[in-house]
Amino acid sequence: MKGVIAIYPGSFDPPTNGHLDLIERGANIFGKLVVAVLHNTEKGAPLFSVKERKEMLTALTHPWKNVVVDSFEGLLVDYARRIKARALLRGIRAISDYEYELQMALMNRKLQPNLETVFMMPAEQYSYLSSRLVREVAQLGGSIKGLVPDLVERRLREKLDPAVKLEHARDPRPRKRG
Ligand code: PNS
Repeated sequence: MKGVIAIYPGSFDPPTNGHLDLIERGANIFGKLVVAVLHNTEKGAPLFSVKERKEMLTALTHPWKNVVVDSFEGLLVDYARRIKARALLRGIRAISDYEYELQMALMNRKLQPNLETVFMMPAEQYSYLSSRLVREVAQLGGSIKGLVPDLVERRLREKLDPAVKLEHARDPRPRKRG
């Protein structure tokens, strides 16, 4: 599917290792993969702004030359038409994801029959992982090591404890890329 532009849409609040696993799988299959961050209006106030999420995703997807990061508002099918995407990539972790994903895929097919939804499974060690759980565990002081890239872990710590950011500003030693 090297000639195919695919969209990997989502909230990515924040991006997790499960998202990156799927991005890698998508990048290996499609000619171009557009990771598209939704300007959510329905899900309440996000933890990270769209700009912050795009920044993180851009840094994290740097190794894949056929991956670009963008954001969109409104209907996904309209955005897909605008950027000439022929496929949507979604991850299915467990059977519990299936119903919601099936509903979305069929609604999108109704709206735009030429746009194909492709499901992929992330590596099994990420099958329980979600941005919501990562946010919750981080907010309650639990460890999220190994669940998100180092960069995201750092950004989460800075977001939840602004004193950490101040500390880094005073001691700007180079840190490992995430
Ligand atoms: O990571 P998420 O939050 O599960 O992603 C959901 C997303 C962004 C794929 C979905 O909410 C979406 O496509 N929203 C755009 C609005 C739209 O097109 N709605 C109809 C979809 S059936």
